[in-house]
Amino acid sequence: MKGLILSGGKGTRLYPLTYTRAKQLIPVANKPVLVRVIEAIREADVTEIGVVIGGSTAQEIRDTLGDGSQWDVKLTFIHQPSPDGLAHAVKISQDFLQDDPFVMFLGDNVIQGGISNLIRDFATNEWNSQIVLKEVPNASSYGVAKLRPDGSIEQLIEKPKNPPSNLALVGIYMFDAHIFEAVHAIKPSPRGEYEITDAIQWLIENKYQVFPHVHQGWWIDTGKPNDMLEANSLVLDELKPLIAPDAIIENSVVDPRVTVQAGAKIINSTVRGPSIIGEHTVIENSYIGPFTSIYHHVVIQQCEIERSIILEESELSDIHDPILRDSLIGRKVNVQRGGDKPRGLKMNLGDNSRVLI
Ligand code: TTP
Repeated sequence: MKGLILSGGKGTRLYPLTYTRAKQLIPVANKPVLVRVIEAIREADVTEIGVVIGGSTAQEIRDTLGDGSQWDVKLTFIHQPSPDGLAHAVKISQDFLQDDPFVMFLGDNVIQGGISNLIRDFATNEWNSQIVLKEVPNASSYGVAKLRPDGSIEQLIEKPKNPPSNLALVGIYMFDAHIFEAVHAIKPSPRGEYEITDAIQWLIENKYQVFPHVHQGWWIDTGKPNDMLEANSLVLDELKPLIAPDAIIENSVVDPRVTVQAGAKIINSTVRGPSIIGEHTVIENSYIGPFTSIYHHVVIQQCEIERSIILEESELSDIHDPILRDSLIGRKVNVQRGGDKPRGLKMNLGDNSRVLI
């Protein structure tokens, strides 16, 4: 069994953060989503993994992951010349995958409970493919499955206007080599992409066995800012808290569900969990509320923050009235209260930034 992680694409829905960083490298609970994907695949004992990359984020992903030895896996990077769809990514990975069965995992998806059970089920059955479905409230934003009364799949439809069920396709798929017949047979969809739903539909129509597994835990596709915050909250909720031995906590109240990473300092502050304070970050005279992840080398002074993600090397000071909440703050961002009169808002924002006041 091999692994295939899709990490090309554009990430337009996460602008402006993704102008300068691959969306798969944005951390939830201080660990990039892509690293969580590698760990989930490794946990299922799959160690030979192809990573599809492309566009301006390709080099950053290569540099971050290296050869994979850090996670005890062997990574092969596969260059996708343009983001022409998930089935196109499979097509260009054929040399790497050869005839081996494989698990394909979208590099921006986070799933509760890992995939070891799924891989075991796939390995011990005669299925040609296994797909993962999840009940969702807004099925028309996803690939949707219509099941027959016996639970088998009748049809898969990409982003239907009138969804035939509330079962969305989760970004984890298992295939044997017959998928290559499918990806070579299908044509691009009206939006110009080779859709994986069309390739799986081709398998179904050609009488190959596609088994649908309905996932009961949570699953998040971190495509949009609020999804990122939601994934962050869910992962923090399950994180086993740990205080690094060299972290400094002075005159502060730190909830037992808080993780404090190496070299962090918390002075005269209150930190409620679940939350995580990154390496060499300083929190001073502040309140950090639940579901907040503060990455490494951040400085926070006189602030009140809840349910937010603050990325590395940012500096925030005197932001407390109102409290900063539900926010996604990029790298090296500086937010402070100006002393000038008359008081007002002064902003220096990049393209596609969003501010809610
Ligand atoms: P999407 O979220 O569907 O696409 P995107 O990354 O282009 O994002 P946006 O819609 O915000 O512009 O992609 C899901 C995952 O698959 C993501 O990790 C990127 C990856 N991908 C590829 O590797 N190749 C592709 O051709 C496409 C479309 C996506």
